[in-house]
Amino acid sequence: MANQVCINCGSKYEIDEIVYFCRKCGDILEIKYDYGELSKALKRSDWRNAPLSVWRYRDFMPINDPTKIVSLNEGGTGLHPCMRLAKHLGLRELYVKNEGENPTGSFKDRGMTVGVTKAVELGVKSVICASTGNTSASLAAYAAKAGLQCAVLIPTGKIAYGKLSQAMIYGAKVIQVRGNFDQALDIVLKLSEKHRTIYLLNSVNPFRIEGQKSLGYEICDQLNQQAPDRVIVPVGNAGNISAIWKGFKEFHELGFVKGLPKMTGIQAAGAAPIAQAIKTGSDTIVPVAAPETVATAIRIGAPVSWKKALNAIRESKGTAETVTDEEILSAQKLLARVEGLFVEPASASSIAGLIKLVENGLIDKDERIVCVTTGHGLKDPDTAVKMSEKPVEVDAEMAAIEYVLGLKRAMEVVAR
Ligand code: F0G
Repeated sequence: MANQVCINCGSKYEIDEIVYFCRKCGDILEIKYDYGELSKALKRSDWRNAPLSVWRYRDFMPINDPTKIVSLNEGGTGLHPCMRLAKHLGLRELYVKNEGENPTGSFKDRGMTVGVTKAVELGVKSVICASTGNTSASLAAYAAKAGLQCAVLIPTGKIAYGKLSQAMIYGAKVIQVRGNFDQALDIVLKLSEKHRTIYLLNSVNPFRIEGQKSLGYEICDQLNQQAPDRVIVPVGNAGNISAIWKGFKEFHELGFVKGLPKMTGIQAAGAAPIAQAIKTGSDTIVPVAAPETVATAIRIGAPVSWKKALNAIRESKGTAETVTDEEILSAQKLLARVEGLFVEPASASSIAGLIKLVENGLIDKDERIVCVTTGHGLKDPDTAVKMSEKPVEVDAEMAAIEYVLGLKRAMEVVAR
């Protein structure tokens, strides 16, 4: 019912073939279904009665054997109505889809539950990825659950501490590469071609994208079978925006929603090849040689899924924007303080992008908007501590605390 298909030349590959790039033209692959068949299968299924989660959509996933599913209970994350933030920005309807609520604290778990299940189905024994942090944390957890050997390549010194601690405690072989993410990815792509027994679980693996498309399905189901007008997504390696768009398109094709959202990608100003291509109307990207941003998760100069992302943005009549580190950090603080949602800096770029697009008059204030926040704030506690007001240290005395809380004047404290 499903094939792996090249996004450029349309060459088809069997669903159980281990292939990451088209053997004819070298482009990346996506999984395509016979939607007539899928529609029939869905009519026989009671998927609508399953709880909101990635595996509620099992019939939409290219997995043959449900007994092999490797799950930590991923998906089913909150779609939070953000009334206070909406009012602050003069918007009518705003939601945050908070992916930090996944088992390892990021959206990557949606892709890994499917990718690692596929690895188990294929009978592979070891898995690998390059990562700015979250992919490595997620892969390490699912590999542990499945009993697979796991190696992760991360850039030295630039990974947030929460993510590093996760990859380490889950028992992955953690390899710090003296270089950036793009260099580490290049190595694992070559390595997995050369050593066919090591299964690659970066987002060039189309099974990852299948899991992540559930984010689009969930948003529709949480909005009572309606698509929002716009979805705003942080973009790094560009797999997620492509996956979410695939989810919306499939729900549309299958007749579950009438409309489609405008996909809006946000990149950090120092790592923005996709936003630049959209702004200049280019059909290709110019990789950034030395990407830099406080949002280390999206510190990526040569996104592997750039073509899928450009297609998603253009097909959906969306747009792309860049945001500075300052804008990202201020959006992170604002979201925490007006909505009680603590997200990591890369995640806050969707909020920073929203603010900028509203200020520039590029978003209609009546739109129904969903911002995706991709990872939990505790992934990067150092940045949060650095940018917040320092705690006040006092003696263990009631009067000192009354003074700090403005309940007593300094004179009275001293007089005691
Ligand atoms: N937000 C967070 C928190 C991420 O970790 C990532 C990617 C993105 C956004 C961008 O998603 O790559 O699909 O466009 N992190 C990858 C990693 C690269 O290795 O953890 P994307």
